[in-house]
Amino acid sequence: MILGHALQERLDTSTRRSAFSVARQPTSLPPTSDGAYHPGMSKEVWDAEAASFDEEPDHGLAHEGIRAAWGDLLLGVLPSAPARVADLGCGTGTLARLLVDNGYTVDGLDFSTAMIERAKTKVPESRFVVGDASYPDLESGSYDVVLCRHVLWALPDPVEALGRWVRLLKADGVVVLIEGRWHTGGGLTAANAEQIVRTVRKSVEVQHLTDPVYWGKELPDERYLLVSVA
Ligand SMILES: C[S@@+](CC[C@H](N)C(=O)[O-])C[C@H]1O[C@@H](n2cnc3c(N)ncnc32)[C@H](O)[C@@H]1O
Repeated sequence: MILGHALQERLDTSTRRSAFSVARQPTSLPPTSDGAYHPGMSKEVWDAEAASFDEEPDHGLAHEGIRAAWGDLLLGVLPSAPARVADLGCGTGTLARLLVDNGYTVDGLDFSTAMIERAKTKVPESRFVVGDASYPDLESGSYDVVLCRHVLWALPDPVEALGRWVRLLKADGVVVLIEGRWHTGGGLTAANAEQIVRTVRKSVEVQHLTDPVYWGKELPDERYLLVSVA
C-alpha cells in the first residue's frame, strides 16, 4: 500500500528520530552484548517512555489511515461488539480507545503508572489498573478477548503468563496477540509465539503484518498478528 506524501514525510522524520519503531524498545536501556533487548525491563524504564510513546505512528494512531488499518485488522478478528476485552500491557490506551469507539468494553492493565495515567485520560470510559501482566489481577472467566500488543516478548516467563491469561477468558474467548521479532534481535518470532500459545491452546492462526500501513513505514522486522479461538 502506498502512503500519502505528507504521511511519508512525517514518518521519515519519525524514523530519523528513532531507530526503533512499533514495539518501541526503551531508548534508555542499553542493548545487551548480542544487540537485543531482553525481558526484565523495569516499570521505571517504561514510565520514562510514556510521555513520548504515542509519537510512533502505530502507538498513537494519530494518522487516520493507520488508525483505520488497525481498526479493520482488530475488528476483523475480534468477536462482534459488545464484547469484553482485557488489554494486557495496555500502554497509553490507544488500542483501548480504538475498541471503545467501536462498541467494546475494555479493561486495561499495565505496570507503568505513567502509562496508566495517560490511558485513563485517553479513555475515561475504561477501567485501568496498575499491575503485572504476568499475574493479571482481573476477573477469571469473564472476558471475551485477551488482547496484548508487544508485551508477551518482554515477560520473563511467557508460557506461564499465557496460561494465566487464558484463565481470564470465557469458554469461547479469544486470544489476540500482536508481536514481532525486531531487527535489533529482540522480540519473538511468529514460530516462537505459536509454540508458546500451543502450550495452552489448540488453535493458532498467524497473519504476517508486512503492510507499512500498520507501521507508517517499511520495516525490516517480522511483525504479525496471532489469533487463537480455542
Ligand atoms: C511496547 S509497549 C506496548 C503498549 C501497548 N500494548 C500498545 O501496543 O500500544 C509495552 C507495554 O507493556 C508494559 N509492560 C511491560 N512489561 C509489563 C509487565 N510485566 N506487566 C505489565 N505491563 C508491562 C509497558 O509498561 C508498556 O506500556
